[in-house]
Amino acid sequence: MLLFFYLILPSLLCSLSNSLKIPFQQVEDEAHVEIDDGIEDVHHFQFTSQRKFTPSKDRAESGRSFWLNNGRKILEEKLKGKENRNVAKNIILFLGDGMSVPTLAAARIFKGQRLQQSGEEQSLGFEKFPYVGLSKTYCVDSQVADSACSATAYLNGVKGNIATAGVTADVKKNDCEAMTNSDHHTSSLAAWAQQKGKATGLVTTTRVTHASPSGIYAHTANRDWEYDGPLVADGGDPNKCHDIAKQLVLNSPGNNLKVIMGGGRGTFIPQNISDPEYSNKRGWRKDNENLIATWLESKRAKNASAKFIWDRDHLLETSKALPEYLLGLFEPSHMLYHMLANEKTEPTLKEMVEVAINSLKRSPEGFFLFVEGGKIDLAHHSNYAQIALDETIEFDEAIMKAVEMTDEKDTLIVVTADHAHTMSVSGYPARGSDIFTNLEEAADNLTYSTISYANGPGYKQNWTAPTTRYDLSKDKRDDKLYQFPGTVPLEYETHGGDDVAVFSRGPWAHLLTGNYEQNVIPLVMGYAARIGPTGDIAQSSTSINVSSFYLISLLVLISFLRKTLL
Ligand SMILES: *[C@@H]1O[C@H](CO)[C@@H](O)[C@H](O)[C@H]1NC(C)=O
Ligand SMILES: *[C@@H]1O[C@H](CO)[C@@H](O)[C@H](O)[C@H]1NC(C)=O
Ligand SMILES: *[C@@H]1O[C@H](CO)[C@@H](O)[C@H](O)[C@H]1NC(C)=O
Ligand SMILES: *[C@@H]1O[C@H](CO)[C@@H](O)[C@H](O)[C@H]1NC(C)=O
Ligand SMILES: *[C@@H]1O[C@H](CO)[C@@H](O)[C@H](O)[C@H]1NC(C)=O
Ligand SMILES: [Zn+2]
Repeated sequence: MLLFFYLILPSLLCSLSNSLKIPFQQVEDEAHVEIDDGIEDVHHFQFTSQRKFTPSKDRAESGRSFWLNNGRKILEEKLKGKENRNVAKNIILFLGDGMSVPTLAAARIFKGQRLQQSGEEQSLGFEKFPYVGLSKTYCVDSQVADSACSATAYLNGVKGNIATAGVTADVKKNDCEAMTNSDHHTSSLAAWAQQKGKATGLVTTTRVTHASPSGIYAHTANRDWEYDGPLVADGGDPNKCHDIAKQLVLNSPGNNLKVIMGGGRGTFIPQNISDPEYSNKRGWRKDNENLIATWLESKRAKNASAKFIWDRDHLLETSKALPEYLLGLFEPSHMLYHMLANEKTEPTLKEMVEVAINSLKRSPEGFFLFVEGGKIDLAHHSNYAQIALDETIEFDEAIMKAVEMTDEKDTLIVVTADHAHTMSVSGYPARGSDIFTNLEEAADNLTYSTISYANGPGYKQNWTAPTTRYDLSKDKRDDKLYQFPGTVPLEYETHGGDDVAVFSRGPWAHLLTGNYEQNVIPLVMGYAARIGPTGDIAQSSTSINVSSFYLISLLVLISFLRKTLL
């Protein structure tokens, strides 16, 4: 019976209305379709969706009071909020690689629908941070950013050229000569923090030498030069231009990082040595340098405790007795997608973040931590929307762990993305429509899914009838690895040029509101923590400045003395 009302009736009515050429009015909801005012109606509200969830009528959402009370509660909460002008002892930057605004909306719907809710009203934990801004992500020579040039911006405060990291726009892609000139080097939040005695660390789900984390410690004319192989293949001299892994182990600030965790054993281990986890795999380095051994030796030379770990058991064991320096490389390449990983052998981002914060918290001067949810981006590149959304939810869990482990009074947490992607959430799907399987009717009498991409490997063609569009309706759209349709065929889906959101909480987070260039982010974080190029700008801790405070105190004292003495 219910099935009849929710599935069959609307589609019957819909086809009826189609044939009679009258706009279809949704009957079970009280939603009104705009009355024809003479302008051609571009909104075809045809609720053909399969409803998995209760329509809004059955919740408290009908009428005024639910919405007015909700809105009032949020307003009252905001009115209680006070600007936090403390010095940030700790600063944490969470970077969701490719975490566009549509990714946030779709991820929160997925999160809610997993909990058997309608989904739209859910929110990710960090979406409730008190301050939000928008950052413009373009690079010096590129309208749409890649993860390398944007890392230079959000970690170093300087914009550079596409595919380069930690260098100014004087360095063009592949220019080995220009990259070695230290005048062209930028310095990162990690370097600034180390100069002020703070502990520093990085955690990612990609290779630790991948574009985003490289922005912390490397200066490179090509993000692909993660180890010597690609650098030599591009005609670079590996003795002149150090690859990214080598820079991490040998140079400051990389060699001072207290915590390094993620994937990427391959770029550290030579080709003639087997991988510790997979005996059938070998390292990638052609120069036969074992950078893990070099890293351990360099810590021993400092007389510091150091540990290299490569699986989840090691991590859990290490968390009980943390060394001064920790290097965790959990896969030869990127760590696996959370949905596909073996949870017994591979730690989650949340587990890594917990250990990283416990380690860095020991520093009396505070710390800087960079955390990347790096595989949101990689999943989008393959049009794996479900994986991208799951990675976003995992990223959120790691953020909420950090929120739980730190104090808003002295810890600034910033959550942002490096660039957008081309995924869109489109159509007019009914409330609660399954974010993956819902289909809407298109003008060619075929259907389209709520999620689609502007381009990518999910491009689909009907090869038996090339003049008609591909029919999605029989595809397994709820499969984890379903590639959502891309309009233009590309081997990899591209990034998007839209602005990305910046969520923040803690000292001076209110400065990260508005719309600004991406390179402003580390400058504000540095200001909050008194580090880096903006760390010396005076901070007034209250709205009454010090001299007026003394003046008022003096007047109060005088009047008090007058009263008591006279
Ligand atoms: C790998 O090559 C290096 C340099 O040629 C050599 O010193 C080392 O012994 C080799 N290791 C193995 C396991 O073959
Ligand atoms: C190394 O550390 C140990 C233990 O803290 C200490 O006893 C020793 O003197 C240190 N050695 C050097 C060379 O600093
Ligand atoms: C869609 O179906 C309708 C009704 O069967 C038909 O009149 C119309 O020509 C079809 N349109 C296309 C593009 O096939
Ligand atoms: C391709 O087109 C043919 C003819 O219209 C149709 O029968 C078939 O279902 C279509 N296949 C797909 C996957 O779109
Ligand atoms: C502090 O306040 C006094 C009086 O209001 C004003 O004259 C002075 O310029 C202020 N100083 C600073 C540093 O803002
Ligand atoms: Zn990317």
